[in-house]
Amino acid sequence: MWNVIKKLSIGLVVGIALVGISRALEFPSVFQMMFFGQAMFGAAVFMLLDAPSVRTMSGAKSVISIVVFYVVLCTVFVSGASMWPQFDPEDEKGKIAKILKPKLAATEQGKAEELIARVKALDEQVKALEVRLMSLGGGRAVKEPAPPVAESPIVPKAAAAGDFMKLGEEQWQLQECYNCHKLKGEGGKKRGPELDNIGSYLTVDEIKQKIMDPKSFMAEGFEKDWEKGKMPDKFKDVMEPNDITAIATWLSTFKNTSVNTPKPIKKK
Ligand code: HEC
Repeated sequence: MWNVIKKLSIGLVVGIALVGISRALEFPSVFQMMFFGQAMFGAAVFMLLDAPSVRTMSGAKSVISIVVFYVVLCTVFVSGASMWPQFDPEDEKGKIAKILKPKLAATEQGKAEELIARVKALDEQVKALEVRLMSLGGGRAVKEPAPPVAESPIVPKAAAAGDFMKLGEEQWQLQECYNCHKLKGEGGKKRGPELDNIGSYLTVDEIKQKIMDPKSFMAEGFEKDWEKGKMPDKFKDVMEPNDITAIATWLSTFKNTSVNTPKPIKKK
């Protein structure tokens, strides 16, 4: 009994030390729990080493014992593992497709516009040639003007005004701002400030500026994180201007004064 307590307490001390170290190194909390679990597992193994050995078995009894042991172990492992959150590639693919779609549409629109411009330029050249032919006495009547070039049907329509807020919220999820910021009590992991009251401090334009250039404002009390550039400055590259406006507009509606959102200090 004394031995069990001794080994359990060694396990606990090691486990707590591991959690402390991994927390200091900013490991995700799942890992911290895993390290603790491993220390406890180690303690359990050492306790088992002290356990009295099992009676020797033979014949059918030994076979049944082995099978039962194996089945129990498998059940524990399989059901335990399936309780963890599962990685779903379809989920990730959906996210990537969502980010890529407007970009693709934009390049297609660009191509269509270039073609239209080239057709128009050619049209001008033909007209100029006709004028010259006439002046040379070709005498051919100028035909009626060419039909106007149809507008590109690929141009995506802007999201309806009512969907704008939804788009903003969607971008919050898509760009994974929640990884660092708590909002409505969700997400965060203590890396960045809670944003529930950001609408009381910043206008839509100022939030846009913060997203496009994270160095432009500094959250009070987050000097170190601001200096280290903890908030990524990739959003101006990976987000459409419309998406940035949507997320800023959506965030500016958060004016929950009971949440302690730090004051943004203008830097640029
Ligand atoms: C990797 C972590 C991280 C991600 C991802 C992140 N931020 Fe930040 N953000 C921070 C940190 C840290 C601060 C505080 C330091 C600073 O002001 O730069 C901050 C500050 C802010 C502030 C100012 C808050 C205040 O009270 O002054 C706003 C607004 C903001 N972030 C919006 C966003 C939005 C919107 C996104 C997603 C598009 C996002 N952040 C993604 C880490 C992050």
